[in-house]
Amino acid sequence: MESGSAFSRRSFSKALVAAPWILRAQQGPLRARIKIDTERVIDDIDPKIYGNFVEHLGRCIEGGVFDENSPLSDSNGYRRDVLDAAKKLGVSILRWPGGNFSSNYHWKDGIGPRDKRPPRLEMAWGTVESNRFGTHEFLNYCELLGTEPYICANLGTGTWEEAQQWVEYVNSSQDTAMTRLRRENGRRDPWKVTYWGLGNEMDGPWQMGHKSAEDYGKFALEAAKLMKWTDPNIKLIAAGSSNYTNGIDWIGWNRTVLDFLKTHADYLALHMYVGNTANDFGEFLATSLTLQERIKTSEGVINAAVSGQRNRKIYIAWDEWNVWYRARGESQRGRRILEEHYNLEDALVVATFLNTFVNHAHVIKIANMAQLVNVIAPIFTDEKRMFLQTIYYPLALFANNTKGKALELLVKSPVYPSRTFGEVPHLDSSAAIDNGTLIVNVVNRHPDQRVETDIELQDKQFTRTVEVAEVNAPDIKTENSFDSTIVKTSQRSIQANGKVLRYSFPPHSYTMLKAKLA
Ligand code: AHR
Repeated sequence: MESGSAFSRRSFSKALVAAPWILRAQQGPLRARIKIDTERVIDDIDPKIYGNFVEHLGRCIEGGVFDENSPLSDSNGYRRDVLDAAKKLGVSILRWPGGNFSSNYHWKDGIGPRDKRPPRLEMAWGTVESNRFGTHEFLNYCELLGTEPYICANLGTGTWEEAQQWVEYVNSSQDTAMTRLRRENGRRDPWKVTYWGLGNEMDGPWQMGHKSAEDYGKFALEAAKLMKWTDPNIKLIAAGSSNYTNGIDWIGWNRTVLDFLKTHADYLALHMYVGNTANDFGEFLATSLTLQERIKTSEGVINAAVSGQRNRKIYIAWDEWNVWYRARGESQRGRRILEEHYNLEDALVVATFLNTFVNHAHVIKIANMAQLVNVIAPIFTDEKRMFLQTIYYPLALFANNTKGKALELLVKSPVYPSRTFGEVPHLDSSAAIDNGTLIVNVVNRHPDQRVETDIELQDKQFTRTVEVAEVNAPDIKTENSFDSTIVKTSQRSIQANGKVLRYSFPPHSYTMLKAKLA
């Protein structure tokens, strides 16, 4: 995306004193152009970039996904209202059981008759884990939801044997002690889970069983060998960077880990959370530029690791991402924790992250918004009710519409100055072509001005109807609650013919345009 442009506000203001006509121009609308050629394909968009994550943390699983005592739950204990909302969200892949929780999770605690399972001290988040929701409950939930399961193995306090036996229990069709146990516990056929994580955030000192990059690389390689020998069809996700603290060599972590795992890992997991602690809308809305920079840097490290290995591909699984800064820190221990309440500006940041994943569709093949319910989540419950947080809406729009092939765009947008990022384009965008239907996603980062934009098709034409979906509200700080849903998607259709659609993107908005092309 080009940042400096003829429409830069900065260049307008420099010329202001000398040329009065500029003043009129400045008061007029901001203008932009998005040029689209449907043959300029980045890559297929993997639907798994629209995933979520459920962890044994706070009220995500207990009281969110699963509540055995609730009248709102089905006979298995799954909250029906949450399941419905998750279905509509279009969750394509669901990561479990953590997160930090996974680093001391011993999966055998979570199988067999529920009443006989051992309660354990849970040290990552300071609770007691009942183990009533385990492997069967998770995998059956994925089947109900119609989503791909992704299990993160314990490479913190766990052993190679434990990780190997988990794959055997879940995936093997042979007659072994593990598969007999599975049958005794009520499941005859294997679930055939493809995606397995080699630990979580092993670069973080906060992690149980935190290791140096070398120690983790060696340990994970042995686990990977055993897991793939158990089932050669599985895909393994290595724990890449999550710790970007000043002075930490996060790039070096990825390089070392890939050195060990380049023959066995299929994905490198990366994590990133952002926040608006400085209460600066412009800076906050530009944080996706850091995401972009980290993707590009990690792609380079991956390319270096696999260079010379024919047909070997390692992709990025951005398997934890979101806005998270209010409910954070040492105080977050116990049951009602990480319960962020999201506003409109958070939803816009979420849309810019999704744009960034689509714009890097060639290397980002999995992404999981952390998490699904109550804990930094798009769905929020209490004992009796549920509501959809602001961030639900952009994720649902992307997951249900932005499919097919990602397109490379030429964007000429006015820019604004930022302390951290230099000149930031007011418009942030992505596009896809899906069986002749064009989908364009645009976030207008301007706090109070529209950006009038010519969407120019190079090789196709608009054919009348363009569906418009917009996430917006009068105030960037507006939140939803049990009693009111102000931030949501509003829909309408407009008409367009020929090669150019002029559309005026409202301030602080996310808009999706969808049109059949000829
Ligand atoms: O998603 C919340 C926590 O954030 C996860 O448990 C951990 O992996 C990350 O630090």
